[in-house]
Amino acid sequence: MTDATDTSGVGIAVLVGAQWGDEGKGKLVDLLAERAELVVRYQGGNNAGHTIVHAGETFAFHLIPSGVLHEGTTCALGNGVVIDAMVLRREVEGLLERGIDIGDRLVVSPHAHLIMPYHVALDEAREMAAIAGERTGHPSAGVGTPGKDSAAIGTTRRGIGPCYADKTARRGVRVEDLFDPEHLRSRLEIALSETNVLLAHYGHEGFSVDAVLDGAMAHADFFRRYVADVGLLIDRTAARGGGVLLEGAQGTLLDIDHGTYPFVTSSSPVAGGACAGSGIGPTRIDRVIGVAKAYATRVGAGPFPTELFDATGDQLVERGGEFGTTTGRRRRCGWIDLVALRRAARVNGLTELAITKLDVLSGFEHVGVCDRYELDGELLEEFPALAADLYRASAEIELLPGWSEDVSAARSLDELPAAARALLDRIEASVGVPVTFIGVGQDRAAVLELAATPA
Ligand code: GDP
Ligand code: IMO
Ligand code: MG
Repeated sequence: MTDATDTSGVGIAVLVGAQWGDEGKGKLVDLLAERAELVVRYQGGNNAGHTIVHAGETFAFHLIPSGVLHEGTTCALGNGVVIDAMVLRREVEGLLERGIDIGDRLVVSPHAHLIMPYHVALDEAREMAAIAGERTGHPSAGVGTPGKDSAAIGTTRRGIGPCYADKTARRGVRVEDLFDPEHLRSRLEIALSETNVLLAHYGHEGFSVDAVLDGAMAHADFFRRYVADVGLLIDRTAARGGGVLLEGAQGTLLDIDHGTYPFVTSSSPVAGGACAGSGIGPTRIDRVIGVAKAYATRVGAGPFPTELFDATGDQLVERGGEFGTTTGRRRRCGWIDLVALRRAARVNGLTELAITKLDVLSGFEHVGVCDRYELDGELLEEFPALAADLYRASAEIELLPGWSEDVSAARSLDELPAAARALLDRIEASVGVPVTFIGVGQDRAAVLELAATPA
């Protein structure tokens, strides 16, 4: 590892969560946006919570791309994003109240799907029913251990799953539908004829087409100002040498295909999703940066092999401030899982790794890493292909020496304690991807940038 000297343009770079979300993607995007003309969200919606701390101010973005604090940066929501119009508008207004005018720097794909009030109601109703069923042991709710058979996913209840389900079933409502009220009415009639039946099943009142139509049409003028072809914009920006950042939400292990299904989100956070969700081809991508914490966290239900259930886990929660940006829930914490990270490197084709929150590990006598799982007396170096095996596998934890020094002021490798460098070397060697960023604090400036020498 060596400190970086060349910090020029980013080309077209994808920034993806390499764990279960909340890796610090927002901070990295904000940092890199200085070198980009365009930042594009390509999937997810306001289930995301991306935190940026700059000059003593904290911002939490749910929909607006994390490059917005840089005045010269255009922020786009690609076709793969699901948009709750009220949330987007509130975010735009909230920024204005803090003196940041997004003006014409926002671009929205007309093909992005809209999260409607009935999607939020259905997400909420399903989670509530699943939780109630687990308490009472109702068979239809998935009885028993809140593990593999748990019916509750612990979603953010923002309507994400139902909206993507409607998109895939071709019952969805897209941004461009707002520009044709009669067409929108027919879309809503199709959607609500089924959704109201589902809502009734959960004891929820149905939605009237007229009310939903009126509510949606109230956003038509707002969107008219911002719609454009996002793929074309990326193409043109890149052609004139302007950097483009594709900002992933959630993380690899929450991916609908490559995550720990069914405890996943309903979109494709992986780097492959960046192309489909923004409208560019895979040959255009120059860099794929995977973001991972120096330990691991997860919010909501699902397998988490390196989870700590002891005082060390509690210390990680406290020192790392591990409470959700979107829902405020306590995040489950554990040691870094290199088996899962190797898989993330492969699935995303990572060219670089950003390791965040190294500062949180200061003061631990030992720092754990997991390089292998154990299953039926055998040691596994690769993530199990079968979900059932993942539940049965246990993480083999190796304890490396910790360090007591505060690393938050470090800006170059030689300012890090030897034990911290040893941990980073171990991650790099084990994952086989060069570490190019090291986060040592919340602030934009609290980062070390390294040259991308082959791992
Ligand atoms: P995201 O969803 O991936 O953007 O991550 P979140 O914003 O949900 O959660 C990451 C949290 O860690 C935020 O509070 C960040 O401000 C914070 N953070 C990011 N990088 C670092 C770091 O290197 N050190 C510390 N202490 N905090 C960090
Ligand atoms: P960012 O972008 C962490 C989790 C939820 C739940 C599962 C499904 O901030 O990293 P959903 O509402 O998407 O249907 O919930 O996914 N989840 C996240 N966990 N960070 C996120 O986003 C998440 N977005 C969703 O907790 O387990
Ligand atoms: Mg987050």
